[in-house]
Amino acid sequence: MIRIALIGAGAHASDYHFPALLDHQLHHPDSLQISAVCDKDLARATALAGGTGAAVLDSWQDALDLADAVIACVPPSLTPEVARTCARRNLPLLMEKPLASTLSEAEAVVADLAGARVMASMNRHFDPTVTLLRRHLGDHVPRLLRITQSRSQRFEPEFLPFTGIHVVDLAIFLAGAPDGAMDRHDSIHHGARWTDLHWTTAAGTRVEVAIKPTLGCNQERVEVVGEGWQGESRSAWMDDGTVRWQDEIHPFPKDWPDWKKAGTDLETTAFLAACRGEGPWEPTPASVLVATKLLGG
Ligand SMILES: NC(=O)c1ccc[n+]([C@@H]2O[C@H](COP(=O)([O-])OP(=O)(O)OC[C@H]3O[C@@H](n4cnc5c(N)ncnc54)[C@H](O)[C@@H]3O)[C@@H](O)[C@H]2O)c1
Repeated sequence: MIRIALIGAGAHASDYHFPALLDHQLHHPDSLQISAVCDKDLARATALAGGTGAAVLDSWQDALDLADAVIACVPPSLTPEVARTCARRNLPLLMEKPLASTLSEAEAVVADLAGARVMASMNRHFDPTVTLLRRHLGDHVPRLLRITQSRSQRFEPEFLPFTGIHVVDLAIFLAGAPDGAMDRHDSIHHGARWTDLHWTTAAGTRVEVAIKPTLGCNQERVEVVGEGWQGESRSAWMDDGTVRWQDEIHPFPKDWPDWKKAGTDLETTAFLAACRGEGPWEPTPASVLVATKLLGG
């Protein structure tokens, strides 16, 4: 039985991590206990933990005393401090992205976390549509990987390092990092910066990542193309949740909750397996740093 402390009871913790933990507990009653829910806004923590038996605290340091493992879902300004403290106390940690508020802080915290039991919460690695596309892909090396991240009305200046990071990290996960120089083009469209990144991997895959925070729709689409074959996934939590491989079409259930459509249940399972020593600590903060550096902050 792993006692989990959830630090931060805001939007993402409430809508994704907490329900995924409850679901895991329901299906594997002996595997985990949500021992503490912590938020500096105690009312928020109370509202989330109500009725589950978890301790409710407003001090994250105190919450660590009640935990065998930690999920940190706090603002990026606090994430490095929580991560360093967990590492010092040898507490396994699932840390939310971004790794920190700035690139230099991200570099510093990754250096400090060397050897620690930490997984970065890059949930596209566990997205069920991406997972199915990867299964079809198998050993095929795509000639082209194109990922398009589209959003509506996302004007916040930190969109690129805080949200764009997901698709850059995903491109590296699926095809590899640049083998040589990366091309980058930024331009302003409809009130926000749109960014195009292009690179070629050591295996010869041409990677195109397009990040469009004000395109006018919410969608994440992954396309892979090789000689005589192609596939595509469209995220279920933002889009219609479809995977196409050649002329096979696989739709995902529309009635799944968003945390399941996003793969947070699979991420929770992977984190718990790593805590038990039965799985890898992946994605690692060091791998996420590669994407953070490509974005420059
Ligand atoms: N992986 C994803 O797809 C994804 C999506 C959204 C957000 N996130 C990440 O999750 C984290 C939280 O985002 P959010 O949207 O839930 O933000 P939020 O503002 O809704 O929640 C953050 C919570 O942390 C609490 N908090 C702040 N300082 C604290 C402290 N000292 N002690 C205890 N609690 C404290 C706040 O009161 C708040 O409730 C961020 O790092 C964000 O980047 C990830």
